[in-house]
Amino acid sequence: MDVAAWCSQSRVWVIAGKGGVGKTTITAVLAATAASAGLSVLVIELEGKHGLGGMFGRTGPVGYEAVALRGARPEEAETTGKPPAGAIWARRLTPDDALLEYLADHGLQRVSRRLVSSGVVDVVATAIPGIRDVLVLGKVKQLERAGVADMVILDAPATGHAMTFLTSASGLLDAARGGPVRQQAAGVVELLRDPARCRVLPVTLPEEIPVSETVESAQLLRERVGIHLGPVVVNCFEEGPRQLGVPAAEAARQAGIGLDETTLDALEAARTFRLRRLQLVEEQVGRLAHELPLAQLRLPRLDVPSIRPAELDRLAEAMARAIDALPGPDGAP
Ligand SMILES: Nc1ncnc2c1ncn2[C@@H]1O[C@H](COP(=O)(O)OP(=O)(O)OP(=O)(O)O)[C@@H](O)[C@H]1O
Ligand SMILES: [Mg+2]
Repeated sequence: MDVAAWCSQSRVWVIAGKGGVGKTTITAVLAATAASAGLSVLVIELEGKHGLGGMFGRTGPVGYEAVALRGARPEEAETTGKPPAGAIWARRLTPDDALLEYLADHGLQRVSRRLVSSGVVDVVATAIPGIRDVLVLGKVKQLERAGVADMVILDAPATGHAMTFLTSASGLLDAARGGPVRQQAAGVVELLRDPARCRVLPVTLPEEIPVSETVESAQLLRERVGIHLGPVVVNCFEEGPRQLGVPAAEAARQAGIGLDETTLDALEAARTFRLRRLQLVEEQVGRLAHELPLAQLRLPRLDVPSIRPAELDRLAEAMARAIDALPGPDGAP
């Protein structure tokens, strides 16, 4: 399927998964893929961790004010507040930021800073469980409605927290009878349930525990929130070289290389170990496809200590190829 068309199916994409499976990496990869296809992208960081900027060659964490990860900077952009086509901007969003903005938008600018600095958010958050998540998602909803970018990509918290993050609004909707909280929660639930506005892209590794957890949380998100899921990103997928199928002794004979018994044994042990690992990967992606019947976007594991701009581009190319191979809505590629 055409990359730009695929990315344009929805405005907000939530990248979710277990801790360390590559959510921030996939956020960056998807942003780079969409930007290369000519879309404007806004990445939203929720946890304020390092890592995202580095993949684009930037240092330091992303702050509250939008910064450019690729393309024109916010201060250079012609249309204020919106990245131009092909540009990627990023900003951090915390519950405190979201509450400040909410209060400012409702004419309470003067008191809002004092409220936040006095820790009132913590008091309110304790009194109304889930309000933090609703505040943040409420802000995301506002950005989506304002059309801040063709694609808004949200780097979600790790699974446990992501589940509450995405289910809080439904919970609040059941609990709150009326008032601004209920209104905000209702708006968030509406956003999460509309596949033309919001989708969740689960990320997993081709290993037993991450696959099980992905299947489980995908079912919960569907049932509790009615959120549109997929495809699922299988990060660090490995495909073995075809030569692995040939025993070491046979490969050495074919290549006309004479090797002693000890070396051949070591090579054979390495070959069978790697073969077994690849079988496990195959088993797990097969199980994933069976238990969570969504299309899969498989990305390779790069043998590098950290992802820098060159590696990000390689992964973005792999992502574009994987999207390209997806069937379109009418079943045609
Ligand atoms: N396809 C890949 N090839 C090589 N390294 C990868 C790949 N994907 C992720 N990594 C590396 O794995 C580590 C974890 O990735 P990342 O930070 O994206 O995970 P995460 O899910 O965001 O983690 P957290 O839950 O802590 O936020 C990083 O060091 C990253 O560079
Ligand atoms: Mg992360």
